[in-house]
Amino acid sequence: MHCIITGAARGIGRAIARRLAQDSLTRDKAPAAMLLSDQHASELEVLAEELRANGHHITCFAGDMSDPEVPARMVAAAVDAFKTIDVVISNAGYAVGNSFMDFKLEDWDRNFAVHTRGAWLLAKASHQYLKATRGNMLITASISGSNATPALGAYSPSKAATLMFAKQLAVEWGPDGIRVNALSPGLVHTDGSNVVFADPEVKALRASKIPLRRVADPQDMANVVSFIVGPDAAYVSGADIVVDGGLVNTLMPNLGMSNNWNGKVTG
Ligand SMILES: NC(=O)c1ccc[n+]([C@@H]2O[C@H](COP(=O)([O-])OP(=O)(O)OC[C@H]3O[C@@H](n4cnc5c(N)ncnc54)[C@H](O)[C@@H]3O)[C@@H](O)[C@H]2O)c1
Repeated sequence: MHCIITGAARGIGRAIARRLAQDSLTRDKAPAAMLLSDQHASELEVLAEELRANGHHITCFAGDMSDPEVPARMVAAAVDAFKTIDVVISNAGYAVGNSFMDFKLEDWDRNFAVHTRGAWLLAKASHQYLKATRGNMLITASISGSNATPALGAYSPSKAATLMFAKQLAVEWGPDGIRVNALSPGLVHTDGSNVVFADPEVKALRASKIPLRRVADPQDMANVVSFIVGPDAAYVSGADIVVDGGLVNTLMPNLGMSNNWNGKVTG
């Protein structure tokens, strides 16, 4: 496997990198060639060393996805290092909340620059290489891209745009043999969300609202990504892969209608 992963230093991106490296050994019987990218260069190096110790070919690329020059330079670095690209994972992202009245112009623009424009520019720079390999792209969106999320400001609108971008791209690139899918995680305990989930009470409260009664860990996402970017998902394109423990289907249970259906609302 020859792939690019953004936001690879932490959280979901790091778990994806580890899982795809393992897949390469078991599925392809060969070490992976990966360009791992992030804004945090030193953490990226730690992961790279871990993967190199297992025989993988790792190139690190430090850069900020809000910089419009970065995606093309990243793709050029990957091609320089390993000539070909099968899989591109646009995963870098962040969430900061605020009310729309307090939101600043630069915060709004940065959300869209990192999540939506960054994915587009990365796709654009990768197209000829993915076409050559009949490869695929996976873009991390969020359940917040299709469900209004209190106090998350421009995050949810930008993820909605990211989700639709993935679907548009799947239509446009399908004839080139390129699959494109979106991953929409639910609540995942990562480095990025530790600010919320480090508090066990908050974590337990959130878990109690999820049908599977737990907050996901990054491995839950990586396991699904492994399938989506792999050969068994050869006919999956333009999909929004929701991995949320059932959370987005809790509208009616939240009305208290789950345990008594005789017209009596119990909660
Ligand atoms: N954790 C969740 O509950 C959750 C839910 C839905 C969607 N997501 C999405 O999953 C993706 C990964 O999130 P995570 O929870 O693993 O967060 P994380 O903070 O643990 O990891 C995100 C990584 O992306 C990198 N990154 C952020 N902005 C960047 C930029 N401008 N340029 C380069 N790198 C950048 C960070 O440095 C970090 O290493 C994000 O797109 C996020 O929006 C997360």
